[in-house]
Amino acid sequence: MDKGQLLYEGKAKRLYQTEQEDVLFVEYKNSATAFNGEKKAEIAGKGILNNRISTIIFERLKENGIDSHFVKRISEHEQLVRKVDIIPIEVVTRNIAAGSLAKRLGVDEGTPLKRTIVEFYYKDDALGDPLINNDHIDILGIATKEEVEKIYELGLQVNNVLKAIFSEIGVLLVDFKLEFGRDTKGEVLLADEISPDTCRLWDAVTNQKLDKDVFRRDLGSLTQSYEIILARLGGN
Ligand code: C5P
Repeated sequence: MDKGQLLYEGKAKRLYQTEQEDVLFVEYKNSATAFNGEKKAEIAGKGILNNRISTIIFERLKENGIDSHFVKRISEHEQLVRKVDIIPIEVVTRNIAAGSLAKRLGVDEGTPLKRTIVEFYYKDDALGDPLINNDHIDILGIATKEEVEKIYELGLQVNNVLKAIFSEIGVLLVDFKLEFGRDTKGEVLLADEISPDTCRLWDAVTNQKLDKDVFRRDLGSLTQSYEIILARLGGN
């Protein structure tokens, strides 16, 4: 399949049209960004690692009955995905307090939550992706009540599958971010990527951070951390 016109360039990925109207090329870049783009670096090997990890995770979700836009990985940096219109809501599911939740609520990072929670953030760089609730989503008109219910449920379902996958390989799934889109039939579909860029993953024994916090907080080598996740997931 040929790579056509560049449709969109985000912080970590580029999207290209293919000759098939409803299928796109995703190219995983080596760029790492944090704090809404304030911190930036090019990290050799990152794109390859996230392409591989995301592929394994989308495949495992599919085996567990959760469909996504993922079609197949076609090269070191690229995968084919189904075309969707992204819903501008970042859906964050949390099992353990960390990051912005720990800060907002004054809870120590690492405190297990009484139950899994799902949060919504308005995907808008200019506003700094603010936390929003169902009422805000309603007045913004960015998703219907039914869609919001569906993405909330999917946030929990994906968590159940991912928690089991990571628990088997000695990794705690602290939290993660999902994005959803509407496919050509208007159905809500899991999209974007699921990788150590979008999840907090801690070694279950040592609590070593194996995710983008390594970059955000200057804790060591990002690629070494992502390589550990990929190897434990059975990839190479
Ligand atoms: O920063 P915060 O604690 O809200 O992040 C929660 C989770 O969502 C983390 O796993 C983080 O990596 C992910 N996230 C993301 N993209 C964003 C914001 C958060 O992948 N724009």
